[in-house]
Amino acid sequence: MNGHIIVFISVAFTYCTTINGWAWQCNAENGYCTRILSPSVDEPEHPSLAVCKLLCGQPSYLNVWPYPTGKIASEKNLVMVDPQHITFELDGSTTTKNFLQEVVDYFQENLSRDNSNCICQDYYPLVVSLDALSDDLSLTLDTDEFYSLKLNTSDKRIRVEIVGNTIFGVRHGIETLLQLLVPYQNADSACLATLKNVQVTDKPVYRHRALLLDSARNFLSVNTIKKNINAMAASKLNVLHWHVTDSQSFPLELPSLPNMTKCGAYDKDRIYSPKDIEELVTYAKIRGVRILLEIDGPSHVGNGWQWGNEAGLGNLTVCTNQQPWRSFCIQPPCGQLNPANPNIYKVLGQLYGDISNMFPNIGMFHMGGDEVFIPCWNSSKEILDYIKGKPTTEETFLDLWGEFQNKSLRAYDAAVGNDKTSIVVWTSHLTDPNVIQKYLPKERYIIQTWVPDTNQDLITSLLNLGYKIIISTKDKWYLDHGFWGSTLYYNWRTVYNNKMYSQYHKSILGGEVCMWGELVDDSNVESRVWPRAAAAAERLWTNPSTTAGAAEGRFFSHRERLISRGLKTEAVVPQWCVQNEGECSSYL
Ligand SMILES: *[C@@H]1O[C@H](CO)[C@@H](O)[C@H](O)[C@H]1NC(C)=O
Ligand SMILES: *[C@@H]1O[C@H](CO)[C@@H](O)[C@H](O)[C@H]1NC(C)=O
Ligand SMILES: *[C@@H]1O[C@H](CO)[C@@H](O)[C@H](O)[C@H]1NC(C)=O
Ligand SMILES: *[C@@H]1O[C@H](CO)[C@@H](O)[C@H](O)[C@H]1NC(C)=O
Ligand SMILES: *[C@@H]1O[C@H](CO)[C@@H](O)[C@H](O)[C@H]1NC(C)=O
Ligand SMILES: *[C@@H]1O[C@H](CO)[C@@H](O)[C@H](O)[C@H]1NC(C)=O
Repeated sequence: MNGHIIVFISVAFTYCTTINGWAWQCNAENGYCTRILSPSVDEPEHPSLAVCKLLCGQPSYLNVWPYPTGKIASEKNLVMVDPQHITFELDGSTTTKNFLQEVVDYFQENLSRDNSNCICQDYYPLVVSLDALSDDLSLTLDTDEFYSLKLNTSDKRIRVEIVGNTIFGVRHGIETLLQLLVPYQNADSACLATLKNVQVTDKPVYRHRALLLDSARNFLSVNTIKKNINAMAASKLNVLHWHVTDSQSFPLELPSLPNMTKCGAYDKDRIYSPKDIEELVTYAKIRGVRILLEIDGPSHVGNGWQWGNEAGLGNLTVCTNQQPWRSFCIQPPCGQLNPANPNIYKVLGQLYGDISNMFPNIGMFHMGGDEVFIPCWNSSKEILDYIKGKPTTEETFLDLWGEFQNKSLRAYDAAVGNDKTSIVVWTSHLTDPNVIQKYLPKERYIIQTWVPDTNQDLITSLLNLGYKIIISTKDKWYLDHGFWGSTLYYNWRTVYNNKMYSQYHKSILGGEVCMWGELVDDSNVESRVWPRAAAAAERLWTNPSTTAGAAEGRFFSHRERLISRGLKTEAVVPQWCVQNEGECSSYL
């Protein structure tokens, strides 16, 4: 009986939209969209919040995330576009065009989605011309991400010209265009709406805008990593820092060292094969994202390295899985590479060789270098024999660590065949401003700081010494916090308001929000990261002088956008606050 009724109802309603009585009007005074039941006859009404927000805001407001840094202009008039009548014109060399075609394909998926069977009436055909001025397809720290977008409405047609110095700039421009095309549905038509005569020029403040994912504490499937890359692309983040291994597991399959995953993967399905890596690198690149791989060492290793003795190479690590763990490491299971064993550099060389094949021309590699626990090395007979004659002081162990770092770098350069790669390391005892120059030449090393906001002095000292820096403010951008120990959860406002450092400095390359993996896996990582990482994305792209309050409406829209692109994102306010702009500004 009920079934009958439902079928009947679904046939009876052939409206192109859910009519629920609400509409939105722009309040010109404060730039908010107001939800109304009975529209005032003087003001035009809009069928959805998304449409209203295209038009409403101060001064010339585009509902784009992150907010462009250059020129912004548009007419405050809507024009309709039919998703079936969007064509692209590609300019440049064949390789450039092939790449742009792949970018276009990925955008087109979403342009035609969300639309019911209803057709769009009274549309303008849209022609998008894409032009990358350089044929350079490499994506590195130095890639120019500038783009300009011009949307010209005339003679019943819309022409959009997106020009970038590189294809990656052009890609950002297409993302901005996609954000400017919002579903417009009324009772008898379903179109996309956009604004007339838009002009945007845009480029990021920081070159390194990253999300860290950790696939070692808990494995993350390739599909989950891809979904995060989609959200990064939508938010113009450009680096996936992949903390792929740790003491718990080693899921990265290495062709010349098959024993690493044999001993280190959680199981035979929780492995990234070279084919997976190739697929991910390409997938990310089309989305303007490069992968910064981290193989942490000499600490944060263990599982994966147990095979050395049996293979006649001696102990590659010490303290592996040793108990009681508090005596040998900071987090169980324990393990540290064995700098007393010369074979370790042979094995590292093979590892680096495989990695540089899998991540070609990446220009940057992360060697970890955090949380070396001296009592571990200090408890190993092999290591004590190796440093025989020297006092077992902290300095001796730091020298040993410095020697390890030096030899690892040489193994890396030999494997890659040049000494041009920038090596990133976390702040540690070795990066203490008093000793760092002894161990880590500033020409080769980029320092990733993970100190609390209150420790600006460390950043100042490292900048004064001439080091390049990436900032991951621990008490603002560690997304794992708030779920263990006495750590606090940082909501999107805190993430947004993190200015990283007291002022802009050219040696600050950018920043990273970090999703450490102890308490997330495929089942919850998306919602723990998103939409908070998008708040960091605007901080890094735009670095606004304003705080979260000024970005609130756009941020809520961006969250909805991520949802419409298939992401599972955490709710940040009751939906009433989204629909009633400005009414919840002091909420949470
Ligand atoms: C469009 O949506 C699909 C499916 O969710 C996704 O794979 C793709 O990356 C999306 N493209 C954009 C531009 O978001
Ligand atoms: C838009 O294009 C028309 C026709 O090509 C041209 O006359 C007009 O100047 C253009 N408008 C803008 C704002 O570029
Ligand atoms: C893998 O480990 C085994 C011992 O378990 C050893 O015999 C073999 O040589 C190792 N393979 C490689 C490629 O190192
Ligand atoms: C390797 O480690 C094992 C277990 O800790 C130890 O018994 C052995 O002596 C070590 N090998 C060398 C060459 O020191
Ligand atoms: C190493 O161990 C020895 C003996 O237990 C101790 O005296 C020394 O202080 C330790 N060194 C460090 C740096 O902890
Ligand atoms: C590594 O050590 C060698 C030999 O002591 C030295 O010449 C070289 O400058 C060191 N390299 C770095 C990067 O510290």
